[in-house]
Amino acid sequence: MLTLIVVGVVLVVILGLLVRFALADADMTLLCKGRPKRSEVEGKVAWVTGASRGIGKELARQFAELGAKVIISARNLAELENVKAEILGKYPTAGVEILPLDLASDEESLREAVKKSESFFSGAGVHYMVHNGGHDPPPKPVLEMTGEDVLTMIKTNVLGTINLTRLIAPFMLERGGGHFIVISSTAGKVPAPGQSVYSSSKFALVGYFHTLRSELIQKGIDVTVVCPGPIASKSVSYGKNSGEKPMPTDRCVHLTIAAATHKLKEVWISGQPVLLVMYLCQYMPTLGFWFMDKIGINRVESTNSDGNTSLMTMLFGKKKEKTGKSAPLLK
Ligand SMILES: NC(=O)c1ccc[n+]([C@@H]2O[C@H](COP(=O)([O-])OP(=O)(O)OC[C@H]3O[C@@H](n4cnc5c(N)ncnc54)[C@H](OP(=O)(O)O)[C@@H]3O)[C@@H](O)[C@H]2O)c1
Repeated sequence: MLTLIVVGVVLVVILGLLVRFALADADMTLLCKGRPKRSEVEGKVAWVTGASRGIGKELARQFAELGAKVIISARNLAELENVKAEILGKYPTAGVEILPLDLASDEESLREAVKKSESFFSGAGVHYMVHNGGHDPPPKPVLEMTGEDVLTMIKTNVLGTINLTRLIAPFMLERGGGHFIVISSTAGKVPAPGQSVYSSSKFALVGYFHTLRSELIQKGIDVTVVCPGPIASKSVSYGKNSGEKPMPTDRCVHLTIAAATHKLKEVWISGQPVLLVMYLCQYMPTLGFWFMDKIGINRVESTNSDGNTSLMTMLFGKKKEKTGKSAPLLK
């Protein structure tokens, strides 16, 4: 009898965990943490790149809501001014400074930007460096990427971000601490068919920042690597017919700030089935990579045509056309 009760309890717990996982929109460690900690943010300076729209704009707003002073960067000055006006409209006492920046520019320009960022708010210095700005063009099959495509992506997503880090970290060390929040992607952890160079740029950030933390954490530098799946912010949407809703931008940002203020080192922010694929590739790579190899060509084909990236289409390809021929898999 006792054995039956124990087995029953174990089964109920397992069932509960499975349901929780099926409904999850982030990894289990992050979901176990609470809300963002205001005490970790209030009064500190957060510099957000790519803040003219999308995730970056919402990051700036939520940091301001939590009492941080924010520096907002991107290339488009007019959009940054709108973001500043919107934030001040909501939080009139917030501190907001605009710092136009092209991540793909040379080292001297980046050095100047860092100097300026350190001078804002009476020289308070940047505590949270939020590397969010990035180039994410529409998908293209791997062999159709031109040299120019590769260069633009790597310059913006990797070189700009790494150089900014090299230039600002010494100021943080001098003050005894700082925190890099790095918006990578699920494409920085698992293959992303149709986004080969974007994926490699996001993998590069994961490697660089985990290494940087291992060298500098004992000197007060924290790193939180954030890997979001599809987020509603994306201006050029693909996978639009998948039936899988992208996560609202404010939820992604809420979880990002929660992760950073709870000092998590890496978090995955996505609903299913992407989250399951992340777990498979991390903990059962043979199965995870087999799955990605099975769906890769179908995903490229679908994103190139009707954007139908539903799991069934990914697994089994597009239905036969009325002619009886299969739809072409690649353009
Ligand atoms: N949305 C998603 O589904 C998703 C998923 C995973 C990861 N992410 C990552 O999250 C970040 C933000 O994504 P998002 O959806 O908010 O993208 P978005 O709406 O396209 O915004 C991108 C931001 O980056 C800025 N930017 C682009 N090129 C730049 C450059 N050379 N120098 C400086 N700033 C530049 C843009 O401003 P300007 O054009 O004015 O410069 C804009 O503010 C990106 O790193 C993206 O890879 C997004």
